[in-house]
Amino acid sequence: MPGTSIRSLLAACSLAAQTSAAVIDLPIWFRNSYAVVQVAIGTPPKSHLLRFDTGSATTWVVDEVCETECANYSRYPRNGYNASASSTAGSLGIYGSIEYLGGDTAGPGVSWAQTAADGFFGLAFTSIAEAGTATVVETMMRQGMLDEPRFGIYYATEFNDTGGPGTVWRTRIASMTGSTTWANGTKEETTVGFEGWSWSVFDTGAGSISVPENQVDAIYASIGMDYREILDGHRIPLCSEFNSSWSVSFNFSDDDEGRVITLTGDQLARPGFAEREDACWPPFDGGNQDGFFLIGTPLLHQFYSVWDFGAEEVQNYQPRIGFGALKPEFRGIRS
Ligand SMILES: *[C@@H]1O[C@H](CO)[C@@H](O)[C@H](O)[C@H]1NC(C)=O
Ligand SMILES: *[C@@H]1O[C@H](CO)[C@@H](O)[C@H](O)[C@H]1NC(C)=O
Ligand SMILES: *[C@@H]1O[C@H](CO)[C@@H](O)[C@H](O)[C@H]1NC(C)=O
Ligand SMILES: *[C@@H]1O[C@H](CO)[C@@H](O)[C@H](O)[C@H]1NC(C)=O
Ligand SMILES: *[C@@H]1O[C@H](CO)[C@@H](O)[C@H](O)[C@H]1NC(C)=O
Ligand SMILES: *[C@@H]1O[C@H](CO)[C@@H](O)[C@H](O)[C@H]1NC(C)=O
Repeated sequence: MPGTSIRSLLAACSLAAQTSAAVIDLPIWFRNSYAVVQVAIGTPPKSHLLRFDTGSATTWVVDEVCETECANYSRYPRNGYNASASSTAGSLGIYGSIEYLGGDTAGPGVSWAQTAADGFFGLAFTSIAEAGTATVVETMMRQGMLDEPRFGIYYATEFNDTGGPGTVWRTRIASMTGSTTWANGTKEETTVGFEGWSWSVFDTGAGSISVPENQVDAIYASIGMDYREILDGHRIPLCSEFNSSWSVSFNFSDDDEGRVITLTGDQLARPGFAEREDACWPPFDGGNQDGFFLIGTPLLHQFYSVWDFGAEEVQNYQPRIGFGALKPEFRGIRS
């Protein structure tokens, strides 16, 4: 993000000052299909729209200079944070730059000029936050502002613009099972097991599900698709093929008790592949890191998720992510 100056606002976090409740609700808005939450920052509070991201840990907003000077093709105005206009602003003396692409946890591909937000709201762990800062959620936990050390996320069906000792959230993944039902009614299940320490990182900033390159062919084969044919352009998956006759289950497990999440073909349909409305994006990407799965919005949009630190003190963290079925009115959405 050349030319973007970033100010850490964590010292001046006044998120909770406006509310006495121990449960804080931040409605999710969509702008240019980016999910953002509205957060009031400063004294007097000024409203900012921040893109929330469980794959990064720093919360930042553009400053008053960037408000007018930074590239902006987003069709939306940006609201800069003017530290001199807030009586509670304090400088940490830190100047940071954040790399969202690359690194161990593939983050969101950010084209800042297109992003219709004022900044980022990092929901990962303080251990990967900019040096010397703590995440907003963990700061609030420390200050006793939350009744439980966790947050929940659900996405509504409305994808219109609504003018209105961890490091990242991850879990072991033991296997994936593809299930297909043939025209003659025969059901076939194929399990692809992942040896050793395979991890999945849950990232609201990722728009796809990535699986290790060396597993991707077997995973496609388990749902009756040929990944190479798609890559080579010999086959374009049609959205009409994404139906409930097939499904894929993820076995997220750190012990013998597997925790399995199943997505059916229709839930994985994302139209717009090859610039065609009747073609759907291949459900998984091949990632170049062995043993690393990135679970983004195609799965997260289908569930109510609870992101639980397990304790308020870092040394006692036992991070868990829980998934619950969405109420019927929120189901069947496409990203
Ligand atoms: C960003 O672009 C939109 C649309 O072109 C415009 O309305 C808005 O004022 C711009 N914001 C800034 C800060 O330039
Ligand atoms: C920032 O706030 C200060 C103090 O209120 C004000 O003098 C200044 O004009 C503001 N800057 C911008 C760009 O709004
Ligand atoms: C969302 O978009 C649809 C289709 O354009 C429209 O019918 C609906 O009213 C919109 N909803 C809101 C809340 O704007
Ligand atoms: C059903 O169809 C599949 C695929 O064509 C085939 O492999 C399988 O043997 C068939 N099963 C029966 C019971 O006919
Ligand atoms: C699902 O799609 C396949 C391939 O297009 C088709 O053969 C099958 O009949 C469909 N099944 C259902 C339940 O719609
Ligand atoms: C999930 O994986 C674990 C091994 O880590 C295994 O014990 C469990 O049976 C699996 N569950 C399912 C439903 O496949």
